[in-house]
Amino acid sequence: MIDTVRWKEKNPGNLLPGKLRIIDQTRLPEELIYLETDTDTEIYDYIKRLVVRGAPAIGCAAALGLGAVLQHSKAKTREEFLKDTRKVSDFLAESRPTAVNLFWALNRCINKLNNSTETRVELLKEILVQEGINILNEDISMCKAIGDHGVKLLKGGFGILTHCNAGALATGDYGTALSPVYAAHSVGMDLKVYSDETRPLLQGSRLTAWELKKAGINVVTICDNMAAQVMKEGKINIVITGADRIAANGDSANKIGTYGVAILAKYHNIPFYIAAPYSTIDIDIKTGVEIPIEQRNPDEIRKGFGKLTAPKDINVYNPAFDVTPNELINGIITESGILYPPFGESIKNMILSKNHKCK
Ligand code: MRU
Repeated sequence: MIDTVRWKEKNPGNLLPGKLRIIDQTRLPEELIYLETDTDTEIYDYIKRLVVRGAPAIGCAAALGLGAVLQHSKAKTREEFLKDTRKVSDFLAESRPTAVNLFWALNRCINKLNNSTETRVELLKEILVQEGINILNEDISMCKAIGDHGVKLLKGGFGILTHCNAGALATGDYGTALSPVYAAHSVGMDLKVYSDETRPLLQGSRLTAWELKKAGINVVTICDNMAAQVMKEGKINIVITGADRIAANGDSANKIGTYGVAILAKYHNIPFYIAAPYSTIDIDIKTGVEIPIEQRNPDEIRKGFGKLTAPKDINVYNPAFDVTPNELINGIITESGILYPPFGESIKNMILSKNHKCK
């Protein structure tokens, strides 16, 4: 188990006081360090700098972070507490724009408070933290279920290409794209995972390679520009990546470079799958064109890890995500099963059945 995001009680057995605890992913693979926090500015900074990253993990961190901050609220009444909570939530929501899980998790916490009739501020604080823990636990079980469905696509001897990190480090545990790999490994299936390095911040070589190696899974890191050659050599049987936001028609935003991988997979006749829980689906966005794409600091390209890799003032374009159009996607592996085209219909049915179950 990799405990990417957790609630850390000060006194075991008592929910409060407590802190959000995360793995500092900027330090991996060199060292495994945990950070604890209960301040809004630190949580904002950790999300923005990718100390905690990956769509579901960002959602879990924001939800638990909200509870950690609001435990210190000086509010005297329910109304004041709700106002304080909305203010911190709006601030955290500004940290990154693309992964919809961030807004989904924050909204869910706000709705939980709105729907509660509790008037005692001390109990509202507990309700908020408990909702963060519920979101985390739900994420862990959804990721496990994604693995149970996705493993059916795999066979012994398969080569799997993945991009970025959509593993345990990007979620509560197990991951999305990597969950089927963990499920296969647990039943002794022999696989080889090719992990794209993933320029410019190297989530593939730093994080995917780290967590798979730690689990004893056969992983080979390649530079992004080697994917075509590896496919041509017949080493890849399936591509599975995660997603940061999936539009109602199945268009899927994921780490920059995913779109290119999907085109390569199509050319080489290799099935391309996205793996994601329902919290990554944005049913309010019709197509991928509407997905906001984060632009990041040019220095990530000019001197990514300290050393100049381009002239220091060179113009840089640094979108953090791209959108893979639905026609390049063979299926979307979710906790409710694998969705197939036409995605407009399969996604709508999945969301409807979820809403139905929630009532
Ligand atoms: O910028 P990052 O590292 O947060 O980007 C993460 C990705 O693009 C992941 O592939 C995606 O969030 C899926 S995570 C299960």
